[in-house]
Amino acid sequence: MSGLHVAVIMDGNGRWARSRGLPRWRGHLGGVESVRDVVRAAPDLGITTLTLYAFSSDNWKRPAAEVGRLFWLLREYCTRERGELLENGVRVTAIGRRDRIPRSALAELVRTETETAGESRLHLRLAIDYSSKAEIARASRELAQRAETGSLAAGEISPDLLYQTLTGGVAAPDLLIRTAGEQRLSDFLLWELAYAELYFTTVLWPDFRRADLMRALADFRRRERRFGGLGARPASPPELVPANEPKRRAV
Ligand code: FPP
Repeated sequence: MSGLHVAVIMDGNGRWARSRGLPRWRGHLGGVESVRDVVRAAPDLGITTLTLYAFSSDNWKRPAAEVGRLFWLLREYCTRERGELLENGVRVTAIGRRDRIPRSALAELVRTETETAGESRLHLRLAIDYSSKAEIARASRELAQRAETGSLAAGEISPDLLYQTLTGGVAAPDLLIRTAGEQRLSDFLLWELAYAELYFTTVLWPDFRRADLMRALADFRRRERRFGGLGARPASPPELVPANEPKRRAV
């Protein structure tokens, strides 16, 4: 049975550092600790796919020194964690553009992808130089080219085919977590999150640990997912159902 797909917008590294009088990059360093903890915890909590927003295409607007630190941290994470990721059955892949990733970080990332390719306990997807709008445009271009060359009829383009082209068939996230109190999607998995449950917490990402992930999952399990249908609605009108009665999950 396939488990849950959880996606995370890891936010609040800068605020975490500032509140301690530290430079911003120390917040990102703290954020790597949280990545480590969450990746370790995920399989035991029923998560089989974890997508982390590590660097958005809009993050290039940040000072070069901060961008450099972020890619240095990515490289270090890949180099230092590869052994443990393999031991724990974690397969790593990256989504987003690759042509602008600094060469040494890209080399470690690709090596990690290659060496972990056979693992299946957890699929860790790192969104790097990622823009959902750009990804949707890329998938659309790919389909348009197939239509131009005659291998696809324009009428065959359906939501399912576009989804498949966009994601390679990875199941959509069940739950999106965003830390640090912001309540927006910031160009992350716009199509894929169509029916995801959204969970916002004020916890800053460098403070986010297994217990916070468990809290998010407990909240998720109380949600009733209807995907636009009627789901497992109670027969009685909502006002007759005691307010604190837990809802049944429809999936
Ligand atoms: C947002 O916090 C966070 C980021 C832009 C980067 C996230 C990166 C990491 C957690 C470390 C590297 C990741 C891996 C997978 C090794 P912010 O800087 O926007 O925080 P702020 O809103 O408080 O300023």
